[in-house]
Amino acid sequence: AAPHIPVICVDGPTASGKGTLASEVARRLGYHYLDSGALYRITGLAAVRAGLALDVAHEHTIARMAETLPVVFVDGSVLLAGQDVTDDIRTEEAGMNASKVSALPAVRSALVALQQSFRRLPGLVADGRDMGTVIFPDAPMKVFLTASAGQRADRRHKQLISKGIQAKIDDLRADLEARDARDSNRAVAPLKPAQDALLLDNSSQTVEESVAQVLRWWEEKQPFA
Ligand code: DC
Repeated sequence: AAPHIPVICVDGPTASGKGTLASEVARRLGYHYLDSGALYRITGLAAVRAGLALDVAHEHTIARMAETLPVVFVDGSVLLAGQDVTDDIRTEEAGMNASKVSALPAVRSALVALQQSFRRLPGLVADGRDMGTVIFPDAPMKVFLTASAGQRADRRHKQLISKGIQAKIDDLRADLEARDARDSNRAVAPLKPAQDALLLDNSSQTVEESVAQVLRWWEEKQPFA
């Protein structure tokens, strides 16, 4: 751990707006940003491309891939072995595959050190499912972000439409509820608020309102900053 380097954790379910919130808070504070879900998405993609079924039979093979991922993050793009996979890891299928590999304990262990290596000065904002509970348990501030399933499906729908991708709201909702269930019920590092997490329900908030709330909480934590 690096207790002198501040970390803000933003955990929450699929499509709750964690990424948007966390990356904007990072930008405002001039902090680094970790999208931990991207690491599981990349691992899932790498495993699928290697022709592996995403189950316990291949747990250790997939974990070894995760440990040695040839991944580079540059200017908002993700390169896997030099190939741009930025869009490939954002599909619904990639999200579901990420959820599957993330339920394998050896895969989670394999990604711990990589995630913790993002903790660098002047600070980090990290989003995921277990940032506050497992990866950065000593973080001075943890936010658990929620929104109703209906709201989340609706936002995801708008997002896809804006990219010209067709989707049915009901399918999206069923999909994200299935993913929530898998992420919440797995044995290792399930999705749940850390004991000391601040709960934020953004169902009826704009992005700017949630960002302002988190920045206000952060200021209150640091009366001398
Ligand atoms: O946040 P996301 O949708 O990109 O995450 C994709 C999947 O990865 C999610 O369904 C569960 C898994 N995940 C995880 O288990 N732990 C994290 N810290 C982040 C993501």
